[in-house]
Amino acid sequence: MTEYALKLSEAELARYQFMAESAARAEADLWAAAGVAEGAAVADIGCGPGAVSAVLGRMVGPSGSVLAVDRDPDVVDAARLTAGRAGVDNVTFGVGVAEDTGLPSSSVDLVMVRHVLAHNGSREQAIVDHAATLVRPGGAVYLVDIDMPAFRLRPDDEDLADLSGRYQEWHAQQGNDLSVGLRLGELLVGAGLVDVEHHGRYLIFPVAPGSRPPGWAARDALAAAGLATQEDIERWEGAFGRFDELEPRPTTFVSQFVAFGRRPAG
Ligand SMILES: C[S@@+](CC[C@H](N)C(=O)[O-])C[C@H]1O[C@@H](n2cnc3c(N)ncnc32)[C@H](O)[C@@H]1O
Repeated sequence: MTEYALKLSEAELARYQFMAESAARAEADLWAAAGVAEGAAVADIGCGPGAVSAVLGRMVGPSGSVLAVDRDPDVVDAARLTAGRAGVDNVTFGVGVAEDTGLPSSSVDLVMVRHVLAHNGSREQAIVDHAATLVRPGGAVYLVDIDMPAFRLRPDDEDLADLSGRYQEWHAQQGNDLSVGLRLGELLVGAGLVDVEHHGRYLIFPVAPGSRPPGWAARDALAAAGLATQEDIERWEGAFGRFDELEPRPTTFVSQFVAFGRRPAG
């Protein structure tokens, strides 16, 4: 069974916040084209700690609404706190699985599913199929995911490359496809959606001191799967310590894909 293995620290929460704010800026045209607008009803499925849900809540305003759903009750609590901190009160929260959220069909203008499919190897199509039932005719399903093998870090670090390689191996063992970003368009077409657009880009940004990638948050899962020892974890921690001191700051290159498609009207 696929396990979602991130444990969130304050630094990781800050990374989610940073990514959400960057996404709202960098994807502004795509969000608008897909239907993020004042008054829209949006569902954010696999909302994680709710950074994107809060940004969406701000953008749809008091006449709009956001339903934020995640299968992890602790994460849903974190999402509630994020919305509170952001002063957003039009987001409601629920615990549920992405392939069967329990939300009413045809009830929202837009479903967003960001960085969830790569954790759900065997359920990708079921998740997108379900999302397609939640949007009203003419509404859109909006997917975001990565191509992890294209992830780069400069300067190179042997230890951090080792962590990244083992994290990818762990996902492969779970049957997950960390290149699912390349297939987002196919998944939307498979769900019967039309007018599908598929875009890709590199996110290039300096690594903030203290910031840690998802592979680090999954370290206990790597150890449990026999893919890391305590010595490995200490070695990676040492590498992050070195990275935190570097000037100029190291740069990450994340290859990210966005696709959206519409439910046929009528
Ligand atoms: C990497 S986080 C992304 C969070 C958020 N979408 C974002 O982009 O900031 C993935 C989230 O998806 C949730 N998740 C993964 N598979 C899920 C599933 N099948 N059903 C519901 N939630 C799921 C996890 O619990 C986790 O909180």
